[in-house]
Amino acid sequence: MGNTTGQLFRVTTFGESHGPAIGCVIDGCPPGIAIAAEEFAADLERRATGRTRHTSARRESDAVEILSGVYEGRSTGTPLALLVRNTDARSKDYERIARQFRPGHADYTYWQKYGIRDPRGGGRSSARETTMRVAAAVVAKKWLAERHDVRIRGHLAQIGGIVPAAHDWAAVEDNPFFWPDAAQVAELETYMDALRKSGDSVGARVTVVADGVPPGWGEPVYGKLDAELAAAMMSINAVKGVEIGDGFASVAQRGTVHRDGMAPDGFLSNHAGGILGGISTGQQLVVSVAFKPTSSLRLPGPGLDLDGNAVEVVTTGRHDPCVGIRATPICEAMLALVLMDQALRHRAQCGDVGEVAPRIAAAAPGGDHGHG
Ligand SMILES: Cc1cc2nc3c(=O)[nH]c(=O)nc-3n(C[C@H](O)[C@H](O)[C@H](O)COP(=O)(O)O)c2cc1C
Repeated sequence: MGNTTGQLFRVTTFGESHGPAIGCVIDGCPPGIAIAAEEFAADLERRATGRTRHTSARRESDAVEILSGVYEGRSTGTPLALLVRNTDARSKDYERIARQFRPGHADYTYWQKYGIRDPRGGGRSSARETTMRVAAAVVAKKWLAERHDVRIRGHLAQIGGIVPAAHDWAAVEDNPFFWPDAAQVAELETYMDALRKSGDSVGARVTVVADGVPPGWGEPVYGKLDAELAAAMMSINAVKGVEIGDGFASVAQRGTVHRDGMAPDGFLSNHAGGILGGISTGQQLVVSVAFKPTSSLRLPGPGLDLDGNAVEVVTTGRHDPCVGIRATPICEAMLALVLMDQALRHRAQCGDVGEVAPRIAAAAPGGDHGHG
């Protein structure tokens, strides 16, 4: 229940934070995609903990084992099963909170729903699960790039009150924050060091974009591309908000500003974020995601124990002081999974329609089309 995403590219994940392994099964994967176990390493490394002092110190190797669905290096069209073993779980850290509900975490709600929970490392509610979303999306990103020239990228767009002063994609992969302004990295290091020392945590915003998406992907009415993107992003741990294009800033805009003018040589702006009527326009897709601050803190906070007594909850163990720092590859992954699924659905129903005239460029020369 609730562990599968997608209609035609169906990804089911399984596993807990401190269980022996986590994994996923992709059903509906197109045959013939070249897939090698080593191809997962780059994106999993980008998501991983323990690589810098600004994330949790847990250090997993995140080596992907391909259990099925690949023969002689190519997907066969049968269920593609991927497995990652957990090798650095320290369940002892969770002995105390096994009898407590952390404020702001999923302990209480899992308990109320199932009447039983695996408290070790947050069990199934841990973001360890997102490893498998990133792994599954490696396949989706590859197919989208090869078949449609779709390119998916992302960056951190805010930590606490700090926003990028400049936007340079080239800077993003060169710092531990996925930050698009190299000049601010030292400021972020200082900010995060002070935050970590204080024992507190902070929220963040991630922006992800897809370039090259053709017009026509997305389904009215309940399968709208923006609706599915919002659901996909909201399914990521700690997400409290999703914006498409200008999102909530649209509230203060006039129609004359927000509507994206069209010209024979392309769109004149991209306030809509590349989606109209739930269907892609051919412009850049722009999705922005709000992450709440980490709830597991060593600073005491009011919670309850299993008997309903008030307790001061203190969470030890290894935690991210800002979960958003590692979330860029996860948001990219969900964008890729939604696009892959929508691309296959579009092909299934409308594959015979072909290219319809007039087809205009994503951005008119000199037009303000979005996000770099
Ligand atoms: C990349 C990432 C890392 C996370 N790391 C932690 C963590 O170290 N400690 C923690 O308490 N929560 C962490 N979370 C958030 C929890 O998984 C999440 O808050 C919890 O499952 C409750 O769900 P909710 O916040 O979506 O309501 C992380 C989330 C993400 C996306």
